[in-house]
Amino acid sequence: MARIVAGIGSSHVPAIGAAIDNNKTEEPYWKRVFSGFEKSQAWMRETKPDVAIIVYNDHASAFSVDLIPTFALGCAAEFPPADEGWGPRPVPVVQGHPTLASHIAQSVILDEFDLTICNKMEVDHGMTVPMNLLFGKVDKNSHWPCPVIPLAVNVVMYPPPTGHRCFMLGRAIRKAVESYPEDLKVVIFGTGGLSHQISGPRAGLINSKWDKAFLDNLSKDPQKLVKIPHVDYMREAGAEGIEMVMWLIMRGALDDKVDEVYRFYTVPASNTAVGHIILANRPRAAHRRTAPGVHKRSAARKAKAPARRAAARAKVHSVRS
Ligand SMILES: [Fe+2]
Repeated sequence: MARIVAGIGSSHVPAIGAAIDNNKTEEPYWKRVFSGFEKSQAWMRETKPDVAIIVYNDHASAFSVDLIPTFALGCAAEFPPADEGWGPRPVPVVQGHPTLASHIAQSVILDEFDLTICNKMEVDHGMTVPMNLLFGKVDKNSHWPCPVIPLAVNVVMYPPPTGHRCFMLGRAIRKAVESYPEDLKVVIFGTGGLSHQISGPRAGLINSKWDKAFLDNLSKDPQKLVKIPHVDYMREAGAEGIEMVMWLIMRGALDDKVDEVYRFYTVPASNTAVGHIILANRPRAAHRRTAPGVHKRSAARKAKAPARRAAARAKVHSVRS
């Protein structure tokens, strides 16, 4: 069976992509950002996922105000990089995983989440920047290390989905992945954020306290996050901070209790707070090992069962007699 082994949260600041594409990663301003992802890239090389599901938002590249799907799942065999105004980024075409994607679409739609199915779609920096941050720079004529299933979420035009809806969609995606018969190791990305606002009187807003509390709760107490209304994201994290609801799809796809493998936070990159976290599901066998008390108690209870039954029989006998 396929299984989700970990979730990755990562900002997808477009200027990070430009820094990679223009060989500026060693400049002091950018080195501060990229050095925070070196351990993550090592973790990714070691984890070697078979497939990545990447939750991101399109920035008027594949969609426009003419067409605003709330959740759009990429079921195509490949996803070319979009031209975002300066020509497509010099990254490889993203290979999809149509059979797993179609399986997820069927399972999730039958679970009453109305996904839009995309059999042709270009992908923008929202997806390719986090791929670079986690997989490193990949030559345009080479290949990304694993197939990717894009899941685009509308956080650009009002109304975006609620955090709770996103979290529950993550739950449905996990169920879908776990019912796929092939033995695949899957990771899921939640991208965007953290706090930022790119226009208006509050342009440049960054709220590190809010961001760090969000990361803390994402790791330990995600139920606190699912209740946050949109207006709180807007007020506390800026107009574009609403992108953070996409991290809740990733979190919903994980177990309730996870291990925080790694975290990184820095400000600013461009005018955005950069947040990053890796959360790993505990191996199922390890689950049993991590709750020894429970098993010891049940084993002890099992061992005492004959004595308990005998005592109960004796009690019944004494009542009758
Ligand atoms: Fe974005």
